[in-house]
Amino acid sequence: MKLKDQVAIVTGAGRNIGEDTSKLLAREGAAIAVVDLDKARGDKVAADIVAAGGKAKAFVCDVGKEADILKCVADVKAAFGRVDILVNNAAVSDNKNMFDITLEDWNRVLAITLTSPFLFGRAAAKEMISGGKGGKIVNVSSTSGYYGRDRATGYTAAKGGVVNLTKSMAIQLAPHNIRVNAVVPNKIGSPVGKDEFDPTRPVLNLVGRPGVPNDLANAVLFLVSDESSFIVATALFVDGGCTALMPGNS
Ligand SMILES: NC(=O)c1ccc[n+]([C@@H]2O[C@H](COP(=O)([O-])OP(=O)(O)OC[C@H]3O[C@@H](n4cnc5c(N)ncnc54)[C@H](O)[C@@H]3O)[C@@H](O)[C@H]2O)c1
Repeated sequence: MKLKDQVAIVTGAGRNIGEDTSKLLAREGAAIAVVDLDKARGDKVAADIVAAGGKAKAFVCDVGKEADILKCVADVKAAFGRVDILVNNAAVSDNKNMFDITLEDWNRVLAITLTSPFLFGRAAAKEMISGGKGGKIVNVSSTSGYYGRDRATGYTAAKGGVVNLTKSMAIQLAPHNIRVNAVVPNKIGSPVGKDEFDPTRPVLNLVGRPGVPNDLANAVLFLVSDESSFIVATALFVDGGCTALMPGNS
């Protein structure tokens, strides 16, 4: 087991990428704080982990609110005694162009998708530092953080921010033995904010199949395990190679 006796917080853990990541880290021995705004989803994932012999507890938290984040980290500490790993996975997309998105939409997307990795990272890092054993943080970005889109205006801006936030966090937390990295998915399972997975959704990548949540879970496991101990401040593309393709050229 790669994560025996460690405590991992996974945000947006109620389905898709967060769910598979929680379940894989649990199979590797970590106790999982399953954090989600949707209580039923979080409870189900935590129950699945426990039924499979793992350790998990669900925590309802709106990662777009600082008070919720601070309470959640304190509750995780009270429940499991420490924090070793944080996966900042929760995000929402606006799917709107710049003339349609309201300021309220923009602020909410930025709060959940960009500000929360900062605030959750800061609160969790304080616990990692006081625990004396360092830790690992993985921020989930997106290929939308590297490219413009005709919609998802707030989401693309937030995901670009996550990439550079990861570098600053990595620099500032390295002296505390906390490694911070990012993963960069593209079209994994169902689209962000949706339940349904359409296997016929066209994907243009080098692997020839759509990504599945477990592809991301494996990448996160690598980045929080000792096998990646020399990897820090990087963004690992888990996109089937799609970003290597130049649009319109073959
Ligand atoms: N699915 C993709 O194709 C894809 C592609 C690129 C990047 N990503 C990124 O991967 C991550 C996970 O994506 P997904 O598709 O699995 O997401 P999803 O929408 O399927 O699940 C997100 C989970 O987060 C929860 N959530 C939403 N708002 C929350 C809040 N304010 N507080 C707490 N929890 C909240 C939801 O209840 C849900 O369970 C996100 O960061 C997303 O941007 C996904």
